[in-house]
Amino acid sequence: MTPATITADAAGTWDIGGLTVGRIGFGAMRLTGSAAFHLGTPSDRGRSIAVLREAIELGVNHIDTAAFYFSALRSANELINSALSPYPEDLLIATKVGPFRDWSGEWGTSARPEDLRGHVEENLRQLGRDHLDLVYLRRMRQDSIAEHFGALAELRTAGLVRHLGVSDVEPRHLAEAQAIAPVVSVQNRYGLGHHAPRTEELLRVCGEQGIAFVPFFAIAGDGGAQGATTAHDEAVLAVARAHGTTPAAVRLAWTLAQGPQVLAIPGTGNPGHLTENVAAGALRLTTEDLHRLNAAHHDTGTQPEN
Ligand SMILES: NC(=O)c1ccc[n+]([C@@H]2O[C@H](COP(=O)([O-])OP(=O)(O)OC[C@H]3O[C@@H](n4cnc5c(N)ncnc54)[C@H](OP(=O)(O)O)[C@@H]3O)[C@@H](O)[C@H]2O)c1
Repeated sequence: MTPATITADAAGTWDIGGLTVGRIGFGAMRLTGSAAFHLGTPSDRGRSIAVLREAIELGVNHIDTAAFYFSALRSANELINSALSPYPEDLLIATKVGPFRDWSGEWGTSARPEDLRGHVEENLRQLGRDHLDLVYLRRMRQDSIAEHFGALAELRTAGLVRHLGVSDVEPRHLAEAQAIAPVVSVQNRYGLGHHAPRTEELLRVCGEQGIAFVPFFAIAGDGGAQGATTAHDEAVLAVARAHGTTPAAVRLAWTLAQGPQVLAIPGTGNPGHLTENVAAGALRLTTEDLHRLNAAHHDTGTQPEN
């Protein structure tokens, strides 16, 4: 099969709080411009809208976004609303609250618990919905997330939010949140070369408890918010050659091979990359491939996890 004929169901599905989503989803952060956040050239609006519609055509039904994904001229949430509303019934839109940016695009300090209702309402307005399917508390380095997560749990009880997740957390934060309300998903930085022991433990706990584990920067790797580079080590290149695919597909397939609870959310504003990323769900790495990739990508623990 050529990439263009492979749809999201090739990767299988996962149940998030009763909603069945494909294991290949879509990250909206790259829809707004050539560089992360405010810097760089704003994206072509028609191209970003076409990417979103094509993602749905290819069977993607899990989109990750945030109100703080905007550039000078584009907002990820507005693009999603314009491209996809009225939304397909089976589409899960996940958003994140905690961080925020002012009108000029500068990052504010971490939100106080009492600010989170406003963050949720901003997402509701931008997405044109009266409830949010899944909201992550994106931890902003606070030691305890109890107060912030407690504020989100109240919004869940009030019906503004269906399900809750946590992001950029350690295992102790997950346990802290679970003592307050159910957690259906954990979103952390994770990928080849970024799988420090604490994150591996989270991945295992999520698997044991039936919680989704959603890695970010799985393709971008060391590039992080600055985006993917074309520099790839020999192990990734060799595995890509052996399967007649791309390094990005190998990186995505490696994350999916770490457990059925792993849900990919590759981010792109490029239609060709979207097709490749969805097709990566059909790529099955062999045991030898995984050994080779793991041997070349020990996480030494010297890299920050986010
Ligand atoms: N919870 C958090 O703190 C957090 C932090 C960051 C991101 N996120 C979420 O996670 C999602 C994924 O992260 P991400 O978008 O930064 O990183 P990613 O998916 O790992 O990689 C995106 C980068 O790779 C490029 N790319 C995508 N597909 C490619 C392909 N097939 N071939 C070559 N290059 C490709 C993109 O550029 P092009 O646009 O040119 O394709 C972009 O530079 C985000 O969209 C966002 O929703 C969450």
